[in-house]
Amino acid sequence: METIIKTINPNDIDMDIIEEFGKMLREGKTVIFPTETVYGLGANALDEDAAAKIYTAKGRPSDNPLLVHVSDISEVDNLVENVDEKAKLLMGKFWPGPLTILFKKKSVIPDRTSGGLDTVAIRMPSDEVARRIIKAAAVPIAAPSANISGKPSPTKAEHIIEDMKGRVDAILIGGECNFGVESTIVDLSGDYPLVLRPGCVTLEMLREVLGKVEIDPSLMNKDDNIKAKAPGMKYKHYSPDAQVYIVSGDDSSRISKINELIDENSKKGLKTGVLCMSKNLDSYKAKTFDLGNNYEEAAHNLFDELIKLDKEGIDIAYAESFEEKGVGVAIMNRLKKSAGYRIIKA
Ligand code: TXA
Ligand code: MG
Repeated sequence: METIIKTINPNDIDMDIIEEFGKMLREGKTVIFPTETVYGLGANALDEDAAAKIYTAKGRPSDNPLLVHVSDISEVDNLVENVDEKAKLLMGKFWPGPLTILFKKKSVIPDRTSGGLDTVAIRMPSDEVARRIIKAAAVPIAAPSANISGKPSPTKAEHIIEDMKGRVDAILIGGECNFGVESTIVDLSGDYPLVLRPGCVTLEMLREVLGKVEIDPSLMNKDDNIKAKAPGMKYKHYSPDAQVYIVSGDDSSRISKINELIDENSKKGLKTGVLCMSKNLDSYKAKTFDLGNNYEEAAHNLFDELIKLDKEGIDIAYAESFEEKGVGVAIMNRLKKSAGYRIIKA
């Protein structure tokens, strides 16, 4: 398939490009565009055939529902049965932004989009390019992350062009994605709100608005007996070809443990990489991958650094662990999945 590739300056948005890409979406084509979390692979959420193309392009299992993007809060009423008080509070506080809310869907949302569920996951992105394209399309846009299923989500142009050229109708390159991890998903249907996927709208931020909020218990450990409520969370995910391990413990014991492991690996002829905070870049005897100076930077950099592991031909990678609070919950969630829940205690 021929892929149209264009670049747009997020600080000086060319409306002709927006109209062109919006029109393609309206006509049932697949279009990759930037959002504030990760790049999305979009298609008309109300068009069954268009939604089906997303699954093909990503190699995505067909029971994994798509997330639907709107450009304005007023569009939600047409798509869902009911917007309750809690949802209104969240939309008022966090939209536009990296928060996805589950609603009971109306029948306009085809099964292909909702993965056969009676709910639909909706968010309104804050990225100006994303919102303008959705508005120009004049239809809600289903858009999962624009990666091949199972791989890290793309946050930079180069990630996308390599993997998706030839698989979609068009790619729009904008800036880097600010947050770098996918949106927080919250389910309001139970006794108390449940986070199905942690993101940059943190548990603490949600609790400030709603009171009691918990995280889906199946996300914290690999326990096949508890079923993840977001179907996508059960699949192999964020996996580079390199074997990733998380190493927990305090900084100094972790550094010596990882250095020991590096020695063992090099005796076996294996190339090691270490995903670490900037302050530790010079502490390791192997190639290091810089996650930044704080948790926000680490979220922003994480997928890019995971993708770089394979570019550098790394066989085994050790990642420093993060405290599970604030954005640390989202970072550890992605790291645990990419490590297949392998954690080494230093
Ligand atoms: O930040 C984001 O959310 C990005 C950007 C592009 O907006 N999108 C994204 O989409 O991460 P995706 O498809 O990669 O992840 C959506 C997740 C999947 O784990 C899916 O199973 C879950 O949301 N999901 C979608 N609809 C659902 C529903 N009705 N009930 C439960 N989980 C749902
Ligand atoms: Mg994804």
